[in-house]
Amino acid sequence: MTHAITLIPGDGIGPEVTAAVTRILRAAGVAVDWDEHPAGVTALERTGQTLPLELLESIRRNRVALKGPVATPVGGGFTSVNVGLRKALDLYSNLRPVRNLPGVRSRFEGVDLVIVRENTEDLYAGLEHEVVPGVVESLKIITERASSRIARFAFDHARRHRRRQVTAIHKANIMKQSDGLFLECCRTVAGEFPEIAYDERIVDAACMQLVMDPARFDVLVMPNLYGDIVSDLCAGLVGGLGVVGSANLGAEAAVFEAVHGTAPDIAGKNAANPTALLLAAMMMLQHIDERAAADRVMAALTRVLADPRARTRDLGGVSSTREFTDAICAALGA
Ligand code: NAI
Repeated sequence: MTHAITLIPGDGIGPEVTAAVTRILRAAGVAVDWDEHPAGVTALERTGQTLPLELLESIRRNRVALKGPVATPVGGGFTSVNVGLRKALDLYSNLRPVRNLPGVRSRFEGVDLVIVRENTEDLYAGLEHEVVPGVVESLKIITERASSRIARFAFDHARRHRRRQVTAIHKANIMKQSDGLFLECCRTVAGEFPEIAYDERIVDAACMQLVMDPARFDVLVMPNLYGDIVSDLCAGLVGGLGVVGSANLGAEAAVFEAVHGTAPDIAGKNAANPTALLLAAMMMLQHIDERAAADRVMAALTRVLADPRARTRDLGGVSSTREFTDAICAALGA
């Protein structure tokens, strides 16, 4: 069966890592009809828009997309394409499994946790204004609907993947109403899943515990901003941004991407590590019921990572993006 999937090469290292991953999927025998669309700076130059309508229509039609990172200017400039995409397609859940990869040296062993981040509201609603000169207000939006929905997603995920515990991350000691509502929703949903343990942690204490003893955590659910920060912290526990993939999931569509950004410092240098996007692509293969292909790719990746020199430079190896990709394709027998 040939799958129709939207491909967003993205900015910076995006085109290099997406090219590597599409090659590897072909080598794994997955038949994909890629529907390629630009986004971000690349799209702005070509179409005058950062999030072209054709791209959104393509994802709505195909219901699945593989996405390279997209640049967002700091301070002024256009609003985030990632936030816009998640809102436009109501991709309300950001799922980031964080676990040790065989052969990748990291500060901890035995890390196997899942971050579930609410993706559509909180301070990322982008509602900011200057009240009077020198005073800016940024609105944090927390709703019962979005909080209950993400809590249910986290518990459902825990049940389907036989996980033992869900921890809600919050700052309800300070933001008593907004984070308080988030917690209230998590507690109500927890009642529907009696077989899964539920607990709560204040975000700052959770960060300390994560860097002391990450193995004590299982599934973590949290509002948007804490999710953004805590998931990068967790990537650092297992070897960095180059080795964690993610899925943005909604009722109508799913967009799979790496956790890292456009890496402007190494863009165009054939030095990017495509592993994070490859891990996201493996989540995508499971989503489209190509489980055997996902297993083949994981076995090939594991075999290549076992040779320290075959790794890319961010993981202490000497391989370029292309050499690393060649090695995985060879391990797949292509
Ligand atoms: P970044 O993740 O692009 O880079 C941080 C550091 O990690 C850099 O030194 C970079 O070289 C390295 N790095 C990242 N990915 C790598 C890979 N695959 N292989 C080897 N090294 C890698 O973060 P930064 O610099 O904060 O953001 C750059 C741009 O990316 C910004 O415009 C930001 O808005 C955007 N961004 C986009 C995301 C997305 O589209 N999902 C996510 C995060 C950032």
